[in-house]
Amino acid sequence: MAEAHTDAPSKDDEMRLTEAEIAVHWKEEEYFHPIPKFIGQANLTDPSIVERFSEKNFPECFREYADLLSWDKYWTTTLDSSNAPFWKWFVGGKLNVSYNCVDRHLEKYGNKAAILWVSEDESEPVVAITFQELYARVNEMAAVLRDFCGLKTGDRVTIHMPMVPELPVTMLACARLGVIHSVVFGGFSGEACGARIVDSGSRVLISMDGYYRSGKVIDHKVAADIAVKKAEAEGTKVEKVLIWRRFREKSASSTPLVEGRDFIVDELLKKHAGARVAPVSMPAEAPLFLMYTSGSTGKPKGVQHSTGGYLSYVTAASKFIQDIHPTDIYWCMADIGWITGHSFIVYGPLALAATTVMYEGVPTHPDAGRPWRIAERLNVNIFHTSPTAIRMLRKLGPDEPKKYNLRFKCMTTVGEPIEPEAWLWYYRTVGRSQASITDTWWLTETGGFLCSTKPAIDPMKPGSTGPPMPGIYPIIFDENGKEIPPGSSKAGNICIRNPWPGIMQTIWGDPERFVRQYYGKYNKDKNSKDWRDWPWLAGDGALIGKDGYIRILGRIDDVINVAGHRLGTKELESACLTVPEVAEAAVVPIVDPERGRVPEVYIALKPGIKADQAVADKVTKAIETEIGKIARPRTVRIVPDMPKTRSGKIMRRVLASISNSMDYGDITTLANPEVVEQIRVQVQGAGPVEKKAGPEDIRRFGETT
Ligand code: WT7
Repeated sequence: MAEAHTDAPSKDDEMRLTEAEIAVHWKEEEYFHPIPKFIGQANLTDPSIVERFSEKNFPECFREYADLLSWDKYWTTTLDSSNAPFWKWFVGGKLNVSYNCVDRHLEKYGNKAAILWVSEDESEPVVAITFQELYARVNEMAAVLRDFCGLKTGDRVTIHMPMVPELPVTMLACARLGVIHSVVFGGFSGEACGARIVDSGSRVLISMDGYYRSGKVIDHKVAADIAVKKAEAEGTKVEKVLIWRRFREKSASSTPLVEGRDFIVDELLKKHAGARVAPVSMPAEAPLFLMYTSGSTGKPKGVQHSTGGYLSYVTAASKFIQDIHPTDIYWCMADIGWITGHSFIVYGPLALAATTVMYEGVPTHPDAGRPWRIAERLNVNIFHTSPTAIRMLRKLGPDEPKKYNLRFKCMTTVGEPIEPEAWLWYYRTVGRSQASITDTWWLTETGGFLCSTKPAIDPMKPGSTGPPMPGIYPIIFDENGKEIPPGSSKAGNICIRNPWPGIMQTIWGDPERFVRQYYGKYNKDKNSKDWRDWPWLAGDGALIGKDGYIRILGRIDDVINVAGHRLGTKELESACLTVPEVAEAAVVPIVDPERGRVPEVYIALKPGIKADQAVADKVTKAIETEIGKIARPRTVRIVPDMPKTRSGKIMRRVLASISNSMDYGDITTLANPEVVEQIRVQVQGAGPVEKKAGPEDIRRFGETT
């Protein structure tokens, strides 16, 4: 047997191979069909779209999407692949995103609500912002950014804000100037924000003093101070910090302003009242924003999205899959700090002149009827949320939706695979068996949906995302690049064979990592200019059924999907290692009925350190500080040693099996097999293994050896 430190395939690789191709016992669910009333009003009812977007019409088919936008200058080349895999879409074209999302609607819809904002505090009235008012605010904010902050096209700005209308106003103001925004999820810690400031090279941070979360006002300004300090320690000086106020009259934070650095936005806006800033005409391939997401190393990567390609793609996805018309009241319950919020709260819906609803707080505050009360009151007819939220609302208030007059015509689920049971509750109890459900599979990297049923055309199948989107050609490969054909009931690595307009452009500041991570595995010729040679690796295990419907099993890399949020195991582990007593850390996902996956932490202590609860608590605290509460582990387990390969790699898979009460398989090739049984007894007790998770779950355990 080859030792693991050589390049020859080891026993570990063999184990990985069988996992990639694990047979999946996929119970076929019945189909559900869209109702005639929905079909009668839908944007997309012509099934010939599949043919129009078939490979023989690629890439010109995407002209149809780009034509949904208003261009200052029409493009000359639809897809330029001369610098593959750095694709350029709609080359030669020029446009402005804020013009497309705001200005162009003024004539027809100026008086209509663009944003309906709901405070978490139920006694605060709903705020309606018309397109005309949005226009005024975006212009004034753009004037502040340009004239007060001195920002210009191509500069980066970090935005660390909660769910308030000032967030999309700030994003659109950036877009008006061609300034690249990097929105950091408001729940992330100051340290996490600081690291993203450094990576993006932002010299301006835009934040807020506070916001409501679970009935309490959170002091958010504190995080801005920490972020700036962290950035400065790493060599990036933040010159200005702009602070929005949650309450106009008073500060929601007791943290003082730093003289000469911190500024209250409302005061700056007064000086620019009535300002108008001409939208900067941007090349289609100019970057619009960065969105940091977790990868397989500790460092989050800045996913860079384009202007023309991205906006065309999310506009089309919003129109055809979410069935958004300007007359609809659309509510996506995600946070704008994630890609879902960028694409499907802000850019897609506003490009279509829809009314987009924003909710500040926790869906179950003060009770599990809250979302349905909001939907009833605002007359929401399109709803968009995650399986985690669905499971939680179902658990806490299974009959709550029945108490309200709901009239959803279509509903989306996104972020994780959804169990048929949760799907059926969503369909029957929330949707009254009237709404078409779209289970949309995609990633931060893809800008918009990759797979989904077309809501007026395709039947729905609970648990399956459905067929690929028009113009998306998926393929499932095994570890060796051999195709696993549809209907073979084996899973593999899902790739998209072709580029599409919404695909990320690169990883900010690290183009090599971009090529390596997404194309390294299956590209055979690095010099090829032919897109057919560049299958894009999504990082999910998946299989295609006989009917062409795709079922996503989950991440294959070192990423844990917690409540629809993606966390890198390496990021968590490096947070653990900030605790001086910790020698080694391994993080594994455990199956959780509500949150999908939650992290469980294993640590080994430095010699001479006593294993006690205080150390475990320190580790939990470190994770909350470095990343945020969302990453809080279920348990921190102190073990004598980590199971390791002979080359010293921690076998996370073995730990994951133990945590999930599964058989840990063959461990004879480990350097220290005896420790495995010791850990098992520590975690599960002395009895025999109790099997809880099913075979497909193995696939979701984030292979990290
Ligand atoms: C990962 C991407 C892009 C939306 C929010 C998450 C998982 C996403 C589905 C779905 C099964 C899904 C995948 C993917 N995922 N949608 N409909 N069914 N799994 O974005 O943070 O970039 O995470 O979320 O595992 O790779 P993200």
